[in-house]
Amino acid sequence: MNATTTEAAAMARALELALRGPRHGVNPQVGCVLLSPAGEVIAEGWHRGAGTAHAEVDALSKLADPALARGATAVVTLEPCNHQGRTGPCSVALIEAGVARVVYAVADPGERSHGGGERMRAAGLEVEQGLGAEAVEEAIRPWLTAVRLHRPFVTVKWASSLDGRAAAADGTSQWITGWAARADVHRRRADADAIVVGTGTVLADDPALTARDDAPTADGGGGLLPHQPAPVVIGTRPVPAGARVHGHPQPLRVFATHDLAAVLDELYADEVRSVFVEGGPTVASAFLAAGLADEVLVYLAPTLLGGPRSALTELGVGTIDEQRRLRITDLTRLGDDIGIVARTGRRAVPKE
Ligand SMILES: NC(=O)c1ccc[n+]([C@@H]2O[C@H](COP(=O)([O-])OP(=O)(O)OC[C@H]3O[C@@H](n4cnc5c(N)ncnc54)[C@H](OP(=O)(O)O)[C@@H]3O)[C@@H](O)[C@H]2O)c1
Repeated sequence: MNATTTEAAAMARALELALRGPRHGVNPQVGCVLLSPAGEVIAEGWHRGAGTAHAEVDALSKLADPALARGATAVVTLEPCNHQGRTGPCSVALIEAGVARVVYAVADPGERSHGGGERMRAAGLEVEQGLGAEAVEEAIRPWLTAVRLHRPFVTVKWASSLDGRAAAADGTSQWITGWAARADVHRRRADADAIVVGTGTVLADDPALTARDDAPTADGGGGLLPHQPAPVVIGTRPVPAGARVHGHPQPLRVFATHDLAAVLDELYADEVRSVFVEGGPTVASAFLAAGLADEVLVYLAPTLLGGPRSALTELGVGTIDEQRRLRITDLTRLGDDIGIVARTGRRAVPKE
């Protein structure tokens, strides 16, 4: 790779800009920095979500004079797209603007959008891929995983006592964790496109499944965050007419099935790229057992419940050699509790 140190700094800045965009939604977070032939930053841009300008076009629109694009270098976190969607192809926008060189971190895995690099090369631009790829892969992992696997990125979340129980013997589980852990859940819910529970949780807890902005109170209070993940219930028993989830600002989707892969297929077709599975133990275990979970998010509270209600039920682990080892990627103290993010081992390989 022949990227310069100026381009490396511009890529770090482009990633910072990318992260200003929303994490949820059908489109990825993307940032772009335009450099003059002398290596000065002449414009910056980022993507603000589906239907708005892509990062490259946003940056081009910020140029003091469009002529400045001639001979410039575009440093972008993701390969410029190659398709006509709600907006035009960025590869063409860069070619037409007269950009001479494009440096991007990660190839666009999108079936319809990939190929921008080739198109720009064919038009005579100098194109480099791979600068800053590791950091960008990490930052937009949910979206990349979803598009590579053709199914939403799945986070399985639960809260448990130190002895691994998700509820007391009578099924009550509100609350095991303190407000700081629950506020963390709400922030993460708001980053997801959909929030999933099984019918058992709806019947036991009657959750609202909204993302709220302050410490929830016992009655589920707290102001709604600007983005609400779509509520999804899986299971054959009916959702009671008076269930609180019917009051969710997004329409409720009910899948009367146990076929989780089919549910994910349908959600993906409806532009859902990330799913937050909030239990209960049966559905959480089913996602893990089926290899359909990309990470677990576990809140551990310093309390003991004992009894039969484990955080997970059946995973198909018959002997210790079959244990499901995870890799911890984040460990946070939240008040008296601990939040742990751990990844399942499977790598995101393209679906056949
Ligand atoms: N601590 C926590 O984080 C937490 C979170 C949520 C819930 N909870 C607690 O968990 C308890 C409820 O547990 P639960 O396991 O009954 O809840 P659940 O996992 O939400 O619901 C289980 C039900 O989901 C349906 N289902 C959907 N897909 C399935 C699949 N692939 N395999 C099997 N079943 C599937 C089945 O219902 P149908 O018969 O209707 O098909 C099944 O009985 C409550 O005590 C609640 O308080 C704790």
